[in-house]
Amino acid sequence: MRSLDDLLAEGVSGRRVLLRADLNVPLDKDRLSEGGAAITDDGRIRASLPTLQALRDAGARVVVAAHLGRPKGAPDPQFSLAPVAARLGELLGTSVPLAADVAGADAQAKVAALSDGDVLLVENVRFEAAETSKDDAARGELADRFAALADVYVDDAFGAVHRKHASVFDVAQRLPRYAGRLVARELEVLTRLTADPARPYVVVLGGSKVSDKLAVIEALLPKVDRLLVGGGMCFTFLAAQGHGVGKSLLEADQVDTCRRLLAEAGDRIVLPVDVVCAPAFSADAPTTTVAVDAIPDDQLGLDVGPRTVELFGATLGDARTVFWNGPMGVFEMAPFQAGTRGVARAVAAVDGLSVVGGGDSAAAVRVLGLDEDAYGHISTGGGASLEYLEGRDLPGLAVLADRAGE
Ligand code: 3PG
Repeated sequence: MRSLDDLLAEGVSGRRVLLRADLNVPLDKDRLSEGGAAITDDGRIRASLPTLQALRDAGARVVVAAHLGRPKGAPDPQFSLAPVAARLGELLGTSVPLAADVAGADAQAKVAALSDGDVLLVENVRFEAAETSKDDAARGELADRFAALADVYVDDAFGAVHRKHASVFDVAQRLPRYAGRLVARELEVLTRLTADPARPYVVVLGGSKVSDKLAVIEALLPKVDRLLVGGGMCFTFLAAQGHGVGKSLLEADQVDTCRRLLAEAGDRIVLPVDVVCAPAFSADAPTTTVAVDAIPDDQLGLDVGPRTVELFGATLGDARTVFWNGPMGVFEMAPFQAGTRGVARAVAAVDGLSVVGGGDSAAAVRVLGLDEDAYGHISTGGGASLEYLEGRDLPGLAVLADRAGE
């Protein structure tokens, strides 16, 4: 893979660089409709700055392409990158204009007007149905239009490298291609997790759906010393142990798989011992903390309890490598934050490499006001880092590494 430094060494002054970044930040929809500052966590925008700044300093004309949310393949104001352009401009200390389209007439005109060191953001790439199409020809047509906007392509969108999308995969085949600083850093850290992790190696998984995590659990179990499971997904495991889980999130069709995994892993899978319950999914509902064998039928578990935080903390105590993905509870609501906060603190205290695996867990670290510097690495890729750890072939990385046809 060629790096950003390779591109800088070749000289990039005056050249148009298409930079694919992952600027998919969480937005507060209420504030958005009032026209206020709507970004609730700008971590991904900040993570894109080193590559952007290096390109600007070297005199490149930078055209940034990014997605936001999952619009339905057509322009939709609630998924506009306008708030992102504003925040990016604030952080860079310059104005970042936003093209009205993705790779159409306005993007072309604005690219033509760029001066050396300028930055332009084009609209949400998912406003084009072809971006995410399964049809190679459709993606190819869009990729041709992307390629016409630039002389070289830099992929710094680590969070999207698992997507075979036009702006991630196809355009990279049409221009000289380079990996940005963020992609390089993410790979350096994830390689340390897969190659020869210092032991004990403990993985903490949370989040709502166990079905999303089964593949990574299967892939990680032979490699880890302990796998701690919290969040909504723990209830399917608890059901597999024979516990009643009340109205908690349960994927009944996964119970048998969880039972098999528990049997195979023995005590290497560590489950919660208590949970914080409420009669409804609401921040105002009265809460009770119960042992996992006493979850009332009319309640649902919305966080792990204090004894679980203690147990998970003790299990993490001697770890030398930790990967954590997924919150332990509904941390967006104050009564259900303590589990995620406690586990986040225990991960931060690890004497060794601690990696926060993107998505909601990265947002939780920042939203809960924890010290980002206490972690070895906070990944910007949720799905991407999990698929990397599963050992899957990631299209965005494969295309950067493929030098055939150059
Ligand atoms: C993410 O949020 O994990 C990345 O930005 C990818 O988004 P996606 O899951 O909508 O493709």
